[in-house]
Amino acid sequence: MSVKFLLAAASFSFATAFAPTTSIIQNHHNAHRLQKQSQFFMVQGQGDSYKTVFVAGGSKGVGRLVVDKLLEEGHKVVALVRSDEALSELSSLKDVTAIKGDAMEYKDVEGAMDGCDAAISTLGGGSGAGEDGKWVDYVGNNNVIEAAGILGVTRVVLVTSIGCGSSKEATPPSVYEVLKNVLIQKEKAENVLIKYYTNMNWTIIRPGGLVSDTPTGKAILTEDTMAIGSIRRGDVADLVVRTLSSKNTQKKILSAVDPSIQSSANPDGKSAEAFALA
Ligand SMILES: *[C@@H]1O[C@H](CO)[C@@H](O)[C@H](O)[C@H]1NC(C)=O
Repeated sequence: MSVKFLLAAASFSFATAFAPTTSIIQNHHNAHRLQKQSQFFMVQGQGDSYKTVFVAGGSKGVGRLVVDKLLEEGHKVVALVRSDEALSELSSLKDVTAIKGDAMEYKDVEGAMDGCDAAISTLGGGSGAGEDGKWVDYVGNNNVIEAAGILGVTRVVLVTSIGCGSSKEATPPSVYEVLKNVLIQKEKAENVLIKYYTNMNWTIIRPGGLVSDTPTGKAILTEDTMAIGSIRRGDVADLVVRTLSSKNTQKKILSAVDPSIQSSANPDGKSAEAFALA
């Protein structure tokens, strides 16, 4: 396994979350929280036009490219950022509201997301656990999911990684060993959506090994949990933003790979059946 694949695979992105459909939803921390029913109908009526999209992880990597794509598609963006540098960089973009805060702090996430119509999380990035032993890959993503549930933000896209959950077998064992700790944290975040947010309109996207370079435009999404390979960050961003407004992606868990890139993780060039976004 090449070091490049390992490094690439060590940084991830996150996904979307979703909104409550009944007046009471199950919340894994707070068993029964009252949801705003009126918001549900309002959001559902919006169809695919999410005017303002919350982005967690938007200051770098896939998340930063997601911000650009969203702007190209005419969305407004609210980005939660931690550094002053990212704050001023993103604030300089038209139609972006950058808010300084920490994704590890629930209140920061909820405060920034309030008023948004959809949420995308690309949190993660292989920085490992903080001094408190907490990982942004779980805690940060979980905060995004929980805030979306509480605020009635019905549409959530969570970007994780191949190797999580049902895609574990796709990952060569040597790679899985190296990435295990981070994959487990991401998988925990996925499971919050899968197990507790059954009424949400969520989509989980699991990219393969992330590489920079120019997007090829040839990457695919697939329901094939054995899919493995590399993908350019720009192509992940493109697929994430297209997924956001695609009507057949509710509760889908999709791997994202680029069959046009040779990958040491997929030496035989096995191809996966592409999932067509509607
Ligand atoms: C889920 O989101 C997609 C993309 O915006 C949308 O087309 C679809 O109607 C939504 N599903 C529900 C049940 O709201």
